[in-house]
Amino acid sequence: MNDREVPVRYVITGAGSGIGHAVATLAPRVAERDGTGRVQLALLDRDADSIERIASELWGTGVECLPLVVDLSDPAAAGKAVEEAISAFGGLDALVSNAGISSVDAMEDLSLEAYQRTFDVNTRATFLLARAAFPALRDSRGSIVATASISASHPTPPLGMYSASKAALKVMIQQMAVEWGCHGIRANCVSPGPTDTGLTRRSFGDAEDAAARANRSYREAVSPMRKIGRAEDIAQAVLFLAGPRAAHITGVDLPVDGGLSLTVMPLTGGAPGYRLDEIAQEATSR
Ligand SMILES: NC(=O)c1ccc[n+]([C@@H]2O[C@H](COP(=O)([O-])OP(=O)(O)OC[C@H]3O[C@@H](n4cnc5c(N)ncnc54)[C@H](O)[C@@H]3O)[C@@H](O)[C@H]2O)c1
Repeated sequence: MNDREVPVRYVITGAGSGIGHAVATLAPRVAERDGTGRVQLALLDRDADSIERIASELWGTGVECLPLVVDLSDPAAAGKAVEEAISAFGGLDALVSNAGISSVDAMEDLSLEAYQRTFDVNTRATFLLARAAFPALRDSRGSIVATASISASHPTPPLGMYSASKAALKVMIQQMAVEWGCHGIRANCVSPGPTDTGLTRRSFGDAEDAAARANRSYREAVSPMRKIGRAEDIAQAVLFLAGPRAAHITGVDLPVDGGLSLTVMPLTGGAPGYRLDEIAQEATSR
């Protein structure tokens, strides 16, 4: 995509917070580095205040934005928003399907409504967005990047259907890669590990809350890189996969987790000489 001197046209969902916001903020710099210099961003979110504020900040730095307030759990709304963006920009180069939700629900208590809503937002919306984007992406030989999660391969208790919805998303993206590659469309996922955003504030982001602080310390201590991810870390990977530097990459799921998804063997003790007790001590003494 984009060896042309025209703006790179993006649709970014969940752009009102966290990872989606970071993608929107970083996209102009990446376009400049990759030699196209300009972007047009359709910013989709259900949170009207955030999306209007972010769009106006970006406009202030000379970035052309189209804020669209849309609830992606509404099946009619997703396709309509993509069509509006395509019509405003005269086409589309990249769909970043990033909006997602999680809930804390033990399986035995999970309601049908929570089950449905998780799949509606985390899985179905990407299908509806991608289906609406298909003709424009075929024309531009563009790409799709979806935000999955390391929970897709490492089910996380007690997050209800979150892990299952992300696993389905991953395979759906691979299905698109297989079916749409012949049209020049690439489709990939990034899978973040724990990352500081609005979604995780209560769990480990709130420095005022003792339980969140303890949770954060533990997660940092058991992670090979001893840290939580930043939204910008994930955005860099999203924009790499979306852009021309990934021209021959399709159907992959790129973990961006500081190595956390590799910790099964270290946390079960490793080989003789590996000091699991030191890691446990580090986790509790931070
Ligand atoms: N933060 C993490 O640790 C983490 C880890 C793995 C995966 N993820 C995934 O990253 C993606 C981005 O999450 P984040 O961490 O930036 O969270 P966030 O809550 O900060 O941002 C998500 C954004 O999506 C929007 N959104 C949610 N439901 C929507 C809907 N129905 N319609 C339109 N917009 C909606 C929210 O308003 C919000 O602005 C999600 O898919 C999430 O599952 C996050």
